[in-house]
Amino acid sequence: MNVLFISISGNTRSFVQRLQRFAEEENQKDPNALIIHAKEIDDNTPEEAETEPFFACVPTYLEGGNGVDNGDQEILTESLRDYIEFHNNPKLCLGVIGSGNKNFNEQYCLTAKQYAEQFSAPFLADFELRGTDNEIHRIYQLLCEKWQAAVK
Ligand SMILES: Cc1cc2nc3c(=O)[nH]c(=O)nc-3n(C[C@H](O)[C@H](O)[C@H](O)COP(=O)(O)O)c2cc1C
Repeated sequence: MNVLFISISGNTRSFVQRLQRFAEEENQKDPNALIIHAKEIDDNTPEEAETEPFFACVPTYLEGGNGVDNGDQEILTESLRDYIEFHNNPKLCLGVIGSGNKNFNEQYCLTAKQYAEQFSAPFLADFELRGTDNEIHRIYQLLCEKWQAAVK
């Protein structure tokens, strides 16, 4: 299964790489366990039409707003939004996973929720900073379920 992600300070990259390693370990025990193809998007990534479904994993960087009733501005992660907006990519997005920091209260993982709304995809899960091993196990299982249901 495919995961597109962006990471500015490395937390989301760490999470996705650990998710990939966990999937590989599962796959060594059981060849039916799905492995993860991850693609990191940054400001220099050319927009491409994806040909297979994917999950998106995005951290939250917002300027202004309180996450409830006034404007907030996405900063630093827009290249992932632009990438998903391209061509038919929104239709292939199976869901969004958010990362953030709970100190941001109502704005915790808000970018992922905004992507979910914009791309009509479910907000699937969140994790804080680099995420825990338990979150990796839980999110891996969830992605496998969603992937299998979508590609049936
Ligand atoms: C300038 C700045 C703004 C941030 N804004 C938010 C926010 O609005 N909501 C949130 O949950 N986390 C916020 N964070 C925390 C990051 O989302 C969090 O550290 C995340 O793990 C970063 O992921 P990355 O290392 O993959 O870039 C902010 C961090 C910075 C530095």
